[in-house]
Amino acid sequence: MNEIMLPVEIGAQEQTFYQDVVEGLSETPKRIPSKYFYDQKGSELFEQICDLEEYYLTRTELGMLDGVASDLANFLPKISRIVEFGSGNCEKVQYLLDRHSSIRRYLPIDVSESFLLFHADRLMQRYHGLDVLPVVGDFNVPISLEEEEGISLGFFPGSTIGNLDRWEAIRFLRNAADTLGTKSYFLVGVDTLKDRDILLAAYDDAKGVTRDFNLNLLRRLQQELGANLNIDQFEHEARFNQEQSRIEMHLKSRCDQTVRINGDTFRLIEGETIHTENSHKYSVESFQDLARLGGWESCRVWLADGEMFSIHLLKRID
Ligand code: SAH
Ligand code: AVI
Repeated sequence: MNEIMLPVEIGAQEQTFYQDVVEGLSETPKRIPSKYFYDQKGSELFEQICDLEEYYLTRTELGMLDGVASDLANFLPKISRIVEFGSGNCEKVQYLLDRHSSIRRYLPIDVSESFLLFHADRLMQRYHGLDVLPVVGDFNVPISLEEEEGISLGFFPGSTIGNLDRWEAIRFLRNAADTLGTKSYFLVGVDTLKDRDILLAAYDDAKGVTRDFNLNLLRRLQQELGANLNIDQFEHEARFNQEQSRIEMHLKSRCDQTVRINGDTFRLIEGETIHTENSHKYSVESFQDLARLGGWESCRVWLADGEMFSIHLLKRID
């Protein structure tokens, strides 16, 4: 049986968390990067979100993946390595592994350390002979990989690319092209723009799971950074920003208050928000334009019924 590899550490995560929070709360408007949603608890809450009736993204993409994997087997028969950006519970990659016996190596990259290691280990037990090399860290940072015979495929499902703004996404795509190397391909799941009520419900569900996911960030501030704040004085808010074609999540202050972290104090007035996430929605053409700027050309696009979700196959532009 394979032994789990030691995770590769990219930087001192706790230190960066503190610096990013202080920097973001010092800005106007206040913000905290969305990658900080994901500790063990945040990753578990995200899994619950994926099962919600309102959150159409996961079930729609899952419904497409077997067909995509089998089309891909005709188009790209010799995939030898998959690098997944923001791998979560590693569920989606299994559709590719099941249809492509040529895949020898899988590198899941994720910030949520314990969650990543648990699921990487589980995958290794399930796929004997597959080298699973988990990488704990920020997927925006390029990593240097060994030369690989055969095709390297980047995998970025779930519309996580939508959590990056335009320039972040272009920079990410360029770095991913460097990481994956020449003659690589990239399979990217991208949510499409649709009726605002459907979008808003997906980010403000009736059971309040998305609210808990958003508020979990405040618990992390308390527990990991010693922040002095009262979670009950904040509420979850989802907004549709038409101009930017995105859903935004915010933590809205219910009153005038002061948040203290170490020696720093941050004042919020009633109604002021901390912007915690963007989820950009793309038409097929607007995503293809973005991908080109990031160094990737479109090879193929799969669209779900009603154009509810898209999966793009991209090829690195040499
Ligand atoms: N790919 C999975 C999970 C999507 S949730 C799916 O499609 O269901 C987004 C995942 O990306 C989470 O597991 C989160 O921990 C991870 N993540 C978010 N921002 C990240 C970043 N900057 N670097 C690395 N991982 C990140
Ligand atoms: C991971 N990411 C693509 C999710 C999204 O839809 O933006 C995270 C999420 N935020 C709220 N619900 C789900």
